[in-house]
Amino acid sequence: MKIFEQIESEVQSYARSFPCVFNKAQGEYLYDQAGNQYLDFLAGAGTLNYGHNNPLFKEELLDYIMNDGITHGLDMHTQAKGDFLNAFNEKILKPRNLDYIVQFTGPTGTNAVEAALKLARNITGRENVISFTNGFHGVSLGALAATGNSHHRGAAGVSLNGTTRMPYDGYLGDEVDTTAYLDKVLSDSSSGVDKPAAVIVETVQGEGGINAASFEWLRNLDAVCKKHKVLLIVDDIQAGCGRTGNYFSFEEAGIYPDMVTLSKSLGGYGLPFAVVLFKPELDQWKPGEHNGTFRGNNFAFVTAKAAIDHYWSDDKFSKEIKQKGDYVAKRLDAIVEQYGEGNFTTRGRGMFRGINCVNGDLAAKITKEAFNNGLIIETSGADDHVVKFLCPLIISMENLEKGIDIVEAAIKKVCAAQKQIPEETDYFDDVKHIAA
Ligand SMILES: Cc1ncc(COP(=O)(O)O)c(C=O)c1O
Repeated sequence: MKIFEQIESEVQSYARSFPCVFNKAQGEYLYDQAGNQYLDFLAGAGTLNYGHNNPLFKEELLDYIMNDGITHGLDMHTQAKGDFLNAFNEKILKPRNLDYIVQFTGPTGTNAVEAALKLARNITGRENVISFTNGFHGVSLGALAATGNSHHRGAAGVSLNGTTRMPYDGYLGDEVDTTAYLDKVLSDSSSGVDKPAAVIVETVQGEGGINAASFEWLRNLDAVCKKHKVLLIVDDIQAGCGRTGNYFSFEEAGIYPDMVTLSKSLGGYGLPFAVVLFKPELDQWKPGEHNGTFRGNNFAFVTAKAAIDHYWSDDKFSKEIKQKGDYVAKRLDAIVEQYGEGNFTTRGRGMFRGINCVNGDLAAKITKEAFNNGLIIETSGADDHVVKFLCPLIISMENLEKGIDIVEAAIKKVCAAQKQIPEETDYFDDVKHIAA
């Protein structure tokens, strides 16, 4: 452990929550150097939807490497890229009636967001972009300007311009349709909100605390964008690739966004890979305008194609995710009912779920206790107050049950210990305002 203390930067975050040295992983399991086994309910923050070292993809990747397939090719045409594009077009886009051009960006989510924002601004000639409260889109400057979290924003060191924040679904309570407010300010030339190039939205906010927008709200948002001739960008970097039950998280809402960003589980194997999808008429890039040395990761093309072939050739996997998601929802509802004392709530969609513990310290105690019992699980939200269930989608039912049992036991223990603390330090007294 010494070397990490000696020369690795203080910027580390997950390493602080899970202070051990991991050396092996398979499916939903991680192992550390001391030989401990952990169930992984973090899954690379949504990157390992198909589990660690998925054997189906590993075989294809190893074959590719052993045959001296191209590793790096800038943005040149390669066999692997062509095969990926064919599979993506035939098995993902066409069956969903989606007519998108694919842009390969630098291999991080934030770079895909940068590209989408740039393109939207260049096409419309407008600078402003609407983003939402608690939204997270990455930490490079353009994406960070669209991100809400003050901890991340505070690190920018320059002013973050070109965006206007609007209240996300539910931000002002369940009764308020916040798209009506957006419509109002865009209709009023004196609202002070410059006409935007685009609206960027997550259908379920991951880092923002697993806030799931209703399908109705998403449809209303789409209608407002159309009415005001503003591009709609769905950032599906965390919610996409099956996490909510369908390949794209917006499918069930019945909308067809102008642009979509994908990364994280797109590569299937945890390899860096990101794309922007946009409607053909929006492909107004000039050659190389948005470039980067690592646009298109050929190893990721191989594993991304394998993921599509093995999991998305029919709707079997999607049904399985929805069934597992229903199970998680039921279990979390029951846990909240039993131990939440009216304070905790559940949230999310599909296999993208959370328990809002209202208080970040309490949520941290719960995840720490879970880690001590062999489960890796993180928190999210403005105050890290939401315990975030993001396990691999391929997890066995037995391990799904086991992992949730560990969280349930942790909540039971932490809440019982909490009751021993004198009344005046009740965790919930001064935090009820964030219980929304
Ligand atoms: C919705 C969303 N957009 C963008 C990003 C940024 O992706 P990356 O960390 O790969 O830059 C994330 C990362 O968590 C995300 O959840």
